[in-house]
Amino acid sequence: MYVQYSAEDSVRYLAGETDAYELHVLENGGVQHNLAFNYPFPLVIEKAQGAYLYDIDGNRYVDYLQAGGPTLLGSNYEPVNQKVWEVVKESGPVTGLFHPYEMKLAEKIHECMPWVEMYRCLASGTEADMVAIRIARTYTGKQRIVKVGGAYHGWSDQLVYSLHIPYTKTFEAHGIPKEVSENTSEFFPGDVAGLRKVLEENEKAGGTAAVIIEPFGPESGTRPVAKDFAAKVRELCDEFHTLLIFDEVVTAFRVGPGGAQGYFNVKPDLTVFGKIVAGGYPMAGGVGGSEEIMSCIAAGVKAGKKKAYVGGTLTANPLSCAAGYFAIDEIIRQDAAMKAGENGDKLCDGIQKLIDKYELPFVTWNTGSIVHFEVSGVMYLSAADPDVFKKIPERQQYIEEFGAALTANGVITLAGSRIYTSMADNDETIAETLNAFEEVFSNIER
Ligand SMILES: Cc1ncc(COP(=O)(O)O)c(C=O)c1O
Repeated sequence: MYVQYSAEDSVRYLAGETDAYELHVLENGGVQHNLAFNYPFPLVIEKAQGAYLYDIDGNRYVDYLQAGGPTLLGSNYEPVNQKVWEVVKESGPVTGLFHPYEMKLAEKIHECMPWVEMYRCLASGTEADMVAIRIARTYTGKQRIVKVGGAYHGWSDQLVYSLHIPYTKTFEAHGIPKEVSENTSEFFPGDVAGLRKVLEENEKAGGTAAVIIEPFGPESGTRPVAKDFAAKVRELCDEFHTLLIFDEVVTAFRVGPGGAQGYFNVKPDLTVFGKIVAGGYPMAGGVGGSEEIMSCIAAGVKAGKKKAYVGGTLTANPLSCAAGYFAIDEIIRQDAAMKAGENGDKLCDGIQKLIDKYELPFVTWNTGSIVHFEVSGVMYLSAADPDVFKKIPERQQYIEEFGAALTANGVITLAGSRIYTSMADNDETIAETLNAFEEVFSNIER
């Protein structure tokens, strides 16, 4: 979400005076992860309840960051908390051995997404994407992977490649040996013909192990794709004997119990999970697929069978599994995706009316509870633009300032450009939010 390099760095890179490895990375702003890197300073949140967050100074905010997505039921959701505590009281947070809630979670996911026949718990979405690729390479015996330019699939070495903006390649790959992404290729968001070309090219180099996509488009649909995009990618994967990985770290359960695969009715070979899969508790990651493919990471040594190595001391602990199980169960029982989606519709509608009223060159759209609004279009820049690395910091600064203005008016967004609504939002919180937008819009200098 954040481009952590300075304008000076960008100009040096563009002039060919340096490469990504030498660029000066800005300090991390006093926080330990990018989501919390709030301009102009980090917020210290002490209390979370339903649709609201409260900072250490007692300020209240409507929360549309939702910790990056997991709190679809609203923050600190008591009915799930209680059930999780009961499990933890019995077993503690970890035993290192198989626990009934591990099975229950896998069954629940399978009920929602029948193509997930087998499921492996992991620690994060990043880990799950990494494992999915390892499985694909083991299963197909091929090396190359293809991602969408600009897409984020976590921060594992090979996937820190063309983040945010297509064709920027290793620009953000500080500290990662260049050769790690030698087997990673990209295609432009939504460009199925472009994907075919990449797959054809890869055929000459031993073929493609997997194509990994977010079915609604990269960055949770920041660059939306055509409705038949996922189906067309499926067809190409079949033609080139390549596995199709759906990264549903954001979309699983949020766009509906069946996730993006249910919405589009397109079967992935592997599905990557994160966020909601642990109901907002730690160790939110997992990968699932058919028995045949998932067997590539089965435990134990079977003579003659190639296995992809996967580990993790704390994965599949009772705490995360029970939290995931009860959260998903509650999401289904409460129809939370639908309710959160309706809140997203109302909010998007309201923001659009304000954009029209103040005649601003901004754009908003939503996929249910995932609401986008673009005030500077930083991710729409093109690496082909000779001024791209000068424009990134300028545009980034604009959305940071915009996000800060919203925060000052009691609304927390994801980096000033995305909103995740939850079941806990209601007409009151939406009215509060639209008042904040109006306050900010009415103060924008023309
Ligand atoms: C689509 C997608 N994939 C993977 C990840 C990485 O997940 P995690 O932060 O759990 O490592 C994210 C995180 O935002 C994501 O949005």
